[in-house]
Amino acid sequence: MEKIYEGKAKEVYSTENNSEYIIKYKDTATAGNGEKRADIFGKGELNLAITTAIFKMLEENGVKTHYVETMDNRQMKVKKVEIMPLEVIVRNISAGSFAKRYGVDEGIVFEVPTFELSYKNDDLGDPLMVEDHAIALGIITKEEYDYLKRETLKINDLLKDFFGKINLKLVDFKIEYGKDGNGNILLADEISPDTCRLWDKDTNQKYDKDIFRRDLGDLIEGYKEVLNRING
Ligand code: C5P
Repeated sequence: MEKIYEGKAKEVYSTENNSEYIIKYKDTATAGNGEKRADIFGKGELNLAITTAIFKMLEENGVKTHYVETMDNRQMKVKKVEIMPLEVIVRNISAGSFAKRYGVDEGIVFEVPTFELSYKNDDLGDPLMVEDHAIALGIITKEEYDYLKRETLKINDLLKDFFGKINLKLVDFKIEYGKDGNGNILLADEISPDTCRLWDKDTNQKYDKDIFRRDLGDLIEGYKEVLNRING
């Protein structure tokens, strides 16, 4: 296996199969574009298990993803895609950068979910990107933008339902898409408490990376609780 990419939380390897990659989930946690960083033993394993359950659920509901199989407690086999340099974010409830940008409280429940893009570029700090700019830079076409928005809002409905059943509110989340060799757009990367905000429906307790970002306690205990609820 040849390592072809190393990100903050994952490593990507090529395999002898030219149409597949292997993604290894790391224990590294980062926040604020890498300014805060720690190795938290067990995080990679939990995120892989949670991502696996979610990608299986999405596939069962007709979402096209890069998921092939989970090989062991660290590695996932996926279809080879080229990741689009976009962070696709949906918000159901105000929090995080939204609350900061507009000077509003966290916890405002939106009547309609918001859909936004950021340009995935660490050097620039992942700036917010409007549709026309993504098209102007040739990152996506208008048709692809419309498809991403439709697909992403469908994923939001499925995720809200999935987490709602285990008494968690899906506040917001980030996903990434990639293109396979035939130009098909597939949901890629991960969906885990690293990439979603999840609050308990009754207590609003946080079960996501804000535990780390804001020093709210034991991240592993929080992520384990999410996995335990998923596993019933
Ligand atoms: O920070 P912000 O409020 O914009 O984050 C919105 C959602 O996107 C959160 O669930 C956060 O975990 C996720 N996110 C992410 N990776 C980033 C930025 C945001 O997973 N680089």
